Amino acid sequence: MNILLTGGAGYIGSHTYLALAEAGYTPVIVDNFSNSHRGVLQRLQAITERPVLCEEGDVLDTAWVEGVLRKRRIGGVVHLAGDKAVGESVAKPLKYYRNNIGGAVSLLEAMQAAGCEVMVFSSSATVYGDPASVPIAEHFPRSHTNPYGHTKLVIEDMLAALNTAQPSWKIAVLRYFNPVGAHASGLIGEDPSGIPNNLMPFIAQVALGKRAHLQVFGNDYATPDGTGVRDFIHVSDLAEGHVAGLKALLERGESLTVNLGTGRGHSVLEVVKAFEAASGRPVAYQFAPRRPGDIAQCYADPSLAEQLLGWRASRPLDQMCADSWRWQSKNPDGYR
Ligand code: UFG
Repeated sequence: MNILLTGGAGYIGSHTYLALAEAGYTPVIVDNFSNSHRGVLQRLQAITERPVLCEEGDVLDTAWVEGVLRKRRIGGVVHLAGDKAVGESVAKPLKYYRNNIGGAVSLLEAMQAAGCEVMVFSSSATVYGDPASVPIAEHFPRSHTNPYGHTKLVIEDMLAALNTAQPSWKIAVLRYFNPVGAHASGLIGEDPSGIPNNLMPFIAQVALGKRAHLQVFGNDYATPDGTGVRDFIHVSDLAEGHVAGLKALLERGESLTVNLGTGRGHSVLEVVKAFEAASGRPVAYQFAPRRPGDIAQCYADPSLAEQLLGWRASRPLDQMCADSWRWQSKNPDGYR
């Protein structure tokens, strides 16, 4: 079955491409390459030993997407395309509302016109805002603290409204925790442009000698060592979660919303130590003030995903670090 994979050239998209291909689906990438690299396509081809199907364009172009859905006889859509930097969303909110919400509306209209009603959507643990307790279960109240998070929340609500109006739609909402790591081949991985916003790529660049030291944002949180605690999940586990979500929709036909996390929290300092062990390199760090908008701890109750999808994350923190280091050290300049 042909599956449209929007944002398929990105970090999570490229790993999801491999998981879909591994499971016997034929992924067709749609990407505008605004925050991804064409170089990833050759890598995907090298790993799968198959030509990569890619349509370059924007999900905001409804008529074009409808044409792609028809031409490629698409049986389901995995929608990852979107902007994802929290800080940028505060500075440029309209960009986020247009690209993320406008992009989702456009894609859904194209799907409706083409008669494709199966969608897996990439949401985020950010929809839980500052949770009252951990682990976080799906029924927890949702809120948002920045425009990026707001777009995820609005799209979730939009999908629910569509599903109420048209019960024939099958929709899986996947709430990601903190994806890190890279494919075991070392051929694909995260390639942020400029200074990385996120912890793991920043640590990897310190280990590589590209950056002098990590700033640890806050050491006075109410956590075991005072630094922030997150549910880091290997991107290949996350990718397999998309396949499990898609299969559940196609086989059982019931819409669902699940967390994709490991259920374990690790602190910033634990990640630093694990990365040093995996890479054999020192990771210098300095404590810095808390980053505005950060919460103390965030980790998933992943039991619903296991119950509904038969999926659970299996790759531990040391493997996340080892795979991240393999990618970073083999590709010091990413795909460039
Ligand atoms: N951190 C540092 N130094 C850095 C970068 C991060 O100490 O240079 C700390 C943060 O303060 C936080 C932890 O590392 O405690 C993780 O930070 P990330 O930026 O890697 O990840 P976040 O948890 O802040 O954000 C992620 C995704 C967002 C999503 C959010 C909530 O990147 O898209 O989870 O689900 F919105």
